[in-house]
Order: sequence, then C-alpha cells, then structure tokens
Amino acid sequence: MPTKHIKPSKKPKIPIRITTGIPSFDKLCGKGLMDKSINLLIGGPGAGKTIFSIQFLIEGCKAGETGVYITFEEDKEKFYAHMLSLGWDLQKYEDEGKFIFIRYQPDAVKKMLNEGGGMIDSLITQTSAKRLVIDSVTPFSLLYRDELPKKQAALELFRLVSRWGCTTLLTEQEIVHHSPVNSTLSFEADSVILLYHNKKESKRIREIEILKMRGTDHPHQTYNFEISKYGIRLNKFSGAS
Ligand SMILES: Nc1ncnc2c1ncn2[C@@H]1O[C@H](COP(=O)(O)OP(=O)(O)O)[C@@H](O)[C@H]1O
Ligand SMILES: [Mg+2]
Repeated sequence: MPTKHIKPSKKPKIPIRITTGIPSFDKLCGKGLMDKSINLLIGGPGAGKTIFSIQFLIEGCKAGETGVYITFEEDKEKFYAHMLSLGWDLQKYEDEGKFIFIRYQPDAVKKMLNEGGGMIDSLITQTSAKRLVIDSVTPFSLLYRDELPKKQAALELFRLVSRWGCTTLLTEQEIVHHSPVNSTLSFEADSVILLYHNKKESKRIREIEILKMRGTDHPHQTYNFEISKYGIRLNKFSGAS
C-alpha cells in the first residue's frame, strides 16, 4: 500500500504584539503594535507625538531592548531635560546602550537614501535595535517641492525602514481635524494613529484615534487622553482605562 503523506497542519501564527508603554492604548489594539510594523503617528504641534514616541522607546529599554530615536530638530540636552520632567531618564538608558539619540539633518536623510541606509543601517544591525522612531519625517518630505519626487522619496524611505525589521513609529506634523490630508505614507503604513488637539469652546482637548491598523479589530472612535507626569494616558471614562 502506498504510504500516505499527511501534511503537518499549519497553525496560523498569532502575530506578536509590541507594547507601547501606554497600556490604555494597547487595550484598543490587541495588546500593542504588530511586531516589525511601520506605524504613522500624525498630529499638530504639541499634540503628543514626541511623548508617545519616547514612551514607546522607554518601554523597550525597560525590557532590555535597544531603541533608536532619529530626530531633526531637537537640541539633545534640552530634549533630555524635557523628558526628565516626565520622569524619563534618557541619559541613563543611553549610558546602558539601550537608547540611541541621533540628530539628523533632512538632507542627510536624502543622502542616507542614496547610500541605501549608510550609517543608520550599520548602527541598527550592530545594536540589534528592536524599536525605531523617526520624529518627524515631515522636514524631510519638505525638501521635495514637486509631488511625484516627494512621494517617491517617501516610499523609498518606507522601503528602507521596512528592511531594518524594527517596530517603527514615524511621526508626521499635521494638525488633524477629521482625516490627514497631506500624509503620503498613510496608505503604505501598517497603522495610522491620529493625535487631535483641537479647541472645544475655550479648551483644547486631546484625543487619539486609530484610523487604521492592519490585522487588528480596533475601535473606530476617538478617545480622550491626558499628558501628565506619567506620560500619555487615555481617560477611563472613554472606555479604554
Ligand atoms: N511634564 C509634563 N506634564 C504635563 N504635560 C506635559 C509635560 N511635558 C509636556 N507636556 C505636554 O506635552 C506637550 C508636548 O508634547 P509633544 O509630544 O512634545 O508634542 P509634539 O511632538 O506632537 O509636538 C506640551 O505642549 C505639554 O502640553
Ligand atoms: Mg515633537
């Protein structure tokens, strides 16, 4: 009798989730961001993009992972002092080799793309970084005046970042009212998270919304949140605890 070859049953893999350091946010999306996903965080000035990003990187540092923070505009000393106001000692994590701060000029990103990654590429490999933030990609996209090269460059950056295999947050500067209007990357990204900071009567209200997250059954509504000495925390009454 011929032997029957029974194929081993392939169980679908449950995607690994990466906690953001904001437990109330993680509850909205199946315990965190998808492993190795590229996530877009869009908001206007003061909306909380940088705080969200650092909270995400610190969560990794606490678990012994290395995180890379690429920024265009911040003075490192001033920046570390601001983060200390939230109780986050970035210098300590830097000394432990867990937090890597890289100040980059927008045109250096252009060069990095031409070099296929250059110094950042080797840094990510050498440190086995698991988390990456580029805060923000907007100054880089402003280098391109015409729409087509701007889109091509954004896609190239996206491809390069995908190759690094980190769970990534890219921030984009845009004041959000309903949906992002100028975001080139929102179609490519695995998730788009919107940070609102709009005026209702005399008060500005902070709200967060997951506009899209691939492979995730997430709510389609906005949630109030606060920035306090604990960083970002979604308000309990909004159902996210
Ligand atoms: N220690 C703190 N306590 C409370 N709120 C803070 C603290 N530090 C910053 N914030 C709030 O966060 C805002 C800055 O958030 P940030 O993430 O830097 O914004 P973005 O990167 O989107 O421009 C500040 O304008 C302030 O309202
Ligand atoms: Mg910022």
